[in-house]
Amino acid sequence: QEASETPVKRVLLAAPRGYCAGVDRAVIAVEKALDLHGAPVYVRKEIVHNKYVVETLSDRGAIFVDETDEVPEGARVVFSAHGVSPAVVAAAEARSLKTIDATCPLVTKVHKEAVRFADDDYDILLIGHDGHEEVEGTAGEAPDHIQVVNSPDEVDKVTVRDPDKVVWISQTTLSVDETMETVRRLRERFPTLQDPPSDDICYATQNRQVAVKKLAPSCDLVLVVGSKNSSNSVRLVEVALNSGAGASYLVDYAKEIDEAWLDGVTSVGVTSGASVPEILVDEVLAFLAARGYGTVEEVRTATEDLMFSLPRELRSDMKKAG
Ligand code: F3S
Repeated sequence: QEASETPVKRVLLAAPRGYCAGVDRAVIAVEKALDLHGAPVYVRKEIVHNKYVVETLSDRGAIFVDETDEVPEGARVVFSAHGVSPAVVAAAEARSLKTIDATCPLVTKVHKEAVRFADDDYDILLIGHDGHEEVEGTAGEAPDHIQVVNSPDEVDKVTVRDPDKVVWISQTTLSVDETMETVRRLRERFPTLQDPPSDDICYATQNRQVAVKKLAPSCDLVLVVGSKNSSNSVRLVEVALNSGAGASYLVDYAKEIDEAWLDGVTSVGVTSGASVPEILVDEVLAFLAARGYGTVEEVRTATEDLMFSLPRELRSDMKKAG
C-alpha cells in the first residue's frame, strides 16, 4: 500500500522586513507637516518608493512634484528620504521655499563621505544605479570627482586621474554580493583602492537580504512586497533567485499575485522592502491563507531597534506649536 502524503503548504515569513528607520521617519515627517501646517504640503519626488504610501499621503493633502520649480514661491516642501544634491537645496532657497529635509541620515552620511574625499581630491567611484534619485543626490555633492559605476561589467570603462588615489562609495540599497563583486574587480584594476570609512549599504538593506537568503533555499516561490522603483525591493527578488528560490516576484499588492505562480508550490517565502507598510504584507498573507497556505513560520535573522529623530526643521516647528 502506498503512503500518499499531501505536503503541508506553508509560508516562511522573513524578519526583518518592511519599514526601516529612515522610511519611518520620512513618512512621519510628511504626516506631521500636514498636521502642523495643513494641506497642501509639497513633497519633492516620492517621499519613499512605495505606491501605497504615496497614494495615502496624497489623499491626506501631500502634493508630489518632480522639481522645486513646481512648488509655489514661499511654500513648504519636504525633501524625500533619498536625499538631494546641493543644487536642489540652492534652487529651493532661490524660491524662498520652507524646506523640511527628510533625507535618511544614512544617506547623509554617504554625502559627507563624498564631500570629504572630493576635498582631498580623490577620484570617487560611486557604485549605484544611474538615474536613481539617491545617486543623483550623492553625485551632485561633487560632480567633478564622482563617476557612477552601475555594475561589475562597467568596471573596465572606469578612467581615473591617479590610480593610487581612488575610493569607492555606494548607494545604500544595493545587493551586497553584487557590490562586493564590483569592488573586487575595481581592486584588480586599482590595487590601492580605498574602502569607505564604514558600510554604505545600510543596515536595513543588508538585514532584509540576509533574511531572504536564509529562507529562499526552502521556498518554491518567494513573494517580495514592494514597488518596481524601489531599489532595495528589487534587490530582494534578485537575492531570492540567486539563493535558490524556485521563482520570485515583486508585487505592490496582494491582488497582483497570479494564481498560476502557486501551481505545485508547497513553501512560499514572503518579505517586503524597506518602504513597505506591514498592512500590505498582511494582505498577502491573507491571500495565501485563503489558498491553503495557512501555516506561517517566521524566519528571523536579526532584530532591529534603530530609530531616527525627526528632521530638525520639523522639531522646531513642533516646539513652536507647543
Ligand atoms: Fe535609510 Fe536604508 Fe532605509 S538608507 S531610508 S535606512 S533603506
